[in-house]
Parts: sequence; C-alpha cells; structure tokens
Amino acid sequence: MSGYETITYEKKNKIAFITLNRPQVLNIYNVRMRDELYEVLGAVKEDSEVYAVILKGAGEKAFCAGADLSEFLSAPSPTGARRSRWLRDVWGRFLSLPQPVIAALHGYVLGSGIEMSMCCDIRIASEDAQFGLPEVALGIIPAAGATQTVPRTIGLGRALDLLLTGRRINAQEALQMKLINRVVLKERLFPEAESLADKIAGWDQCAVRAIKQAVSRGLDLPLEEGLKLEKEIII
Ligand code: COA
Repeated sequence: MSGYETITYEKKNKIAFITLNRPQVLNIYNVRMRDELYEVLGAVKEDSEVYAVILKGAGEKAFCAGADLSEFLSAPSPTGARRSRWLRDVWGRFLSLPQPVIAALHGYVLGSGIEMSMCCDIRIASEDAQFGLPEVALGIIPAAGATQTVPRTIGLGRALDLLLTGRRINAQEALQMKLINRVVLKERLFPEAESLADKIAGWDQCAVRAIKQAVSRGLDLPLEEGLKLEKEIII
C-alpha cells in the first residue's frame, strides 16, 4: 500500500506500522489524513497476516498536535467542520480492529492526538511527551470522541480536569492519571513498542483477538452481561 500523502504504512513480521507523516506541521490531523487513515485501517482490519498494529508520529517534535486548525476553523461553520469529519468514521474503524493497537507517543500529543491514542489498546509514551485537550480554549467541543473515551479511561474527575482546563500535562502526570500505560526513554519508544507488538504477535491469535473483544465489548456492559459475553466468546 503506497501513495499516501499524510501517513506511511509498512508491514514487517506480522506487525503493521502506521505513521502520521506531516512532521513539518506536527502531524496535525486534516481531511486528507482522515481519508487515508480510514482506508489503511480498513485494509488492516481485513489482513489476517497482521497480528498487531503500531501507531506513531514522524519527526522529532510530535505524535500529533491535534486537528489542522487552518482547515478546521476556516470551515464555513464548526458544525460543518464536525460533519465533514463524520463522513468517515475513522474512530469507529480504530475501535473495530480485531488486532491489538499500540500507540507510541512522543512530543506533543494534543487534541485529536490524545483522541486517536484513546482508540488504541496500549499507550506507551516517551519522557518528552506532553498531553493536552486545548479545544475548550478554542471555543469548541472535542470532535473525535474525547468527551466519551477519556472519562472511560481515566475517570470522570480527571477527564473533566483535562477537558475543562485545557491544561498541558507531562508524561509522568499522564502516567499517574492512567492516560498512558508506561513511560520510556525517548530513544527506547519505538523499540519498546515493537517488542511489545512482537510479544503479542507471538501468542495464539485466536486467544489474542478473543481477549481484546471480550474486554472492549464487555466494558460497556453490566457485569452479568459481560460474564455472559465472555462465555460466548470462549475459544
Ligand atoms: N493547526 C494548524 N497548524 C498547526 C497546528 C494546528 N493544530 N499545530 C501546529 N501547527 C503548525 C504551526 O502553525 C507551524 O507552522 P509554520 O511552520 O508554517 O508556521 C508548525 O505547525 C510548527 O508549529 P510551531 O507552532 O512553530 O511549533 P512550536 O513548537 O513553537 O509550538 C505547539 C508547538 C503545539 C505548542 C503549537 O504549534 C500549538 O499550540 N499548536 C496548536 C495546538 C492545538 O491547539 N491543537 C488542537 C486543535 S483542536
């Protein structure tokens, strides 16, 4: 798969690497990236040779500094801009992937950057990562799921602290808040992500997919129904 403008895609030893690739503008998310991610995620979902996925950002400075404000805020109306994002359900595609997805986060992880990482299963960050949801300061509501995915991940109070203040936090605070799973030295970020993906790719893939499915679908169910789901999924 090639010919992408805003991302790169590579497959190596059962691992798919998706790289946000607009480093000169901190890998910000625009309509073109929306379309390209939508396409590549569709292909990954159907690819039985992909056992794990790594999502990362190109360049030194950022995983993703959020939505491309030159597109987003110049749209005829914020509602129109939001609607244009809904034309492709990229977040739904992320969440529907049967393979585990690891987000490797460095530098700025803002707005859609956090939101994209929330659609991943395991989040590793380097020490230099900075997280924030600046939408409130722009007079908008996050448009890629943060109001739903962040509280589900870190709890109501901590999510509202980030969403209502727009404040930026460092990797250690993000770890304490459970926004991310682990913090590593910057030079170790991609090797650690790859070694984690390798480990997952080495297991029985029916078990891996069943566990992911049971956990992610079950989380939104009452316990009794979740336990029923686990029984149904058992391999
Ligand atoms: N939308 C559009 N362009 C953006 C952008 C965004 N969200 N974030 C960064 N850029 C562009 C900058 O305009 C700059 O472009 P230029 O070189 O043509 O001037 C380039 O990316 C590099 O960013 P710069 O601001 O020079 O880097 P910095 O290290 O000084 O600051 C940030 C980094 C992230 C603090 C700053 O770019 C910023 O605050 N960006 C906006 C973040 C934001 O609000 N995102 C959420 C949107 S919902």
